[in-house]
Amino acid sequence: MKQVSIDLPGDKSLSHRAAIFASMAKGKSRIKNFLAAEDTLHTLKAFEKLGVNIQQINKTEYKIDSFGYSSFQNKVADIYVGNSGTGARLLTGLFAGTSGIQVTLDGDKSLRKRPMKRITEPLMAAGAHIEPSDHLPYTVYGKKLLPIFWEEKLGSAQVKSALILAAIASQQSIRLEEKKPSRDHTENMLRYAGVFLEKEPAEEGYIIELEPDQVLNPMEYHILSDASSAAFFLVLGLHLPNLQIKANRVLLNPYRIAYLDVLEKMGAKLHIQKISEQCGEQGGHITTLPSELTNVSISSNLIPALIDELPILTIAAALSKGEFSFRGAKELRKKESDRIHALVTNLRILGYEVEEYEDGLSFIGNPNYIPEKNVKLNSFYDHRIIMSFEIFQAIVQKRQNVTSTFLSFDDTSWVQTSFPEFYFILQTISLLDD
Ligand code: S3P
Repeated sequence: MKQVSIDLPGDKSLSHRAAIFASMAKGKSRIKNFLAAEDTLHTLKAFEKLGVNIQQINKTEYKIDSFGYSSFQNKVADIYVGNSGTGARLLTGLFAGTSGIQVTLDGDKSLRKRPMKRITEPLMAAGAHIEPSDHLPYTVYGKKLLPIFWEEKLGSAQVKSALILAAIASQQSIRLEEKKPSRDHTENMLRYAGVFLEKEPAEEGYIIELEPDQVLNPMEYHILSDASSAAFFLVLGLHLPNLQIKANRVLLNPYRIAYLDVLEKMGAKLHIQKISEQCGEQGGHITTLPSELTNVSISSNLIPALIDELPILTIAAALSKGEFSFRGAKELRKKESDRIHALVTNLRILGYEVEEYEDGLSFIGNPNYIPEKNVKLNSFYDHRIIMSFEIFQAIVQKRQNVTSTFLSFDDTSWVQTSFPEFYFILQTISLLDD
């Protein structure tokens, strides 16, 4: 069996947060293995516009020297965040609580359609001034906010993080009832930077509390590799007959790797070797062995911890035996595209009989899928939809001994938003396995 070891780019969620926290801290920070993709570079550039000194050392390493969140040098700015919901929402929270700042935030055509009320409503309940407040573009007039009290019911880390950043910037307290626990990078990385944050289990979820006047220290952030990007190649490795894929130094935060539990339940042979923590987050090497997978139903309580991997899990299932389904994933319709609609549409074009629900989908997988020629799929302007169906194609090509491509998309440039190296790594693995 051939073996391949891959070093994936830095995690997107961690890279956004490292750029934000390093710029909020007074002093010199350093970020290593920063994700050099459109989304995260927009977040970094936002702080450059506010006068933070950002020096690039190499493609993925930056030195950041800041006067701190209460002293951004430029008070008025137009900031463009491209396709990034995380950038838009976390920055809205931070700016809403930063006195004296006036920032007009805008994004691309996909982001302009995404819901912003989920953050502007709780921010405005604490006195924030954001106009208009439903969708981008809008202007955030930063000011001292009232203490924040909120019940977070969506299971959204973006909402949770926006509110925590607003409270810190405003030097106010916050009490957040997190009803549906979501990824906790903000909590982990803020603690790493010296913030005192209390998080206690509650009857339902957690209570998160911060006292006013928190100080963030300048830090060195060494970003682990992206857990969601790893998912594409781990699924590929599991489905190929002769290849063992090892993904190095991958982020192993439990709220990000629930997809591994689902794959293991389907029969995936995976080996995980933990390494030491990096900036408050667990990492490790993940190795796949060729596996014969049987489909399962994903239980809805797992959804927040694998929301970004539902597209690639759906592809893993499309090429495995048995019935696959997930429900309770209404939030998947609110991502870079309506991902339930995108998955259903493209799977139907490929010949699958798919049942679509408001909050999920179901179908019977086909491990022996025979491709037709020149199938045109829709990108839905969504990086994860494109990459997931590219993995579908790569697996089918190997299994059916087809050398030419049989799928094409209207536009693959959206992959640049999160994973510019995707096609290079895919090609390297495909050549190795020949
Ligand atoms: C993210 C949180 C998730 C996820 C997104 C990144 C983050 O969104 O889908 O890709 O970095 O906080 P929600 O928190 O809105 O579910």
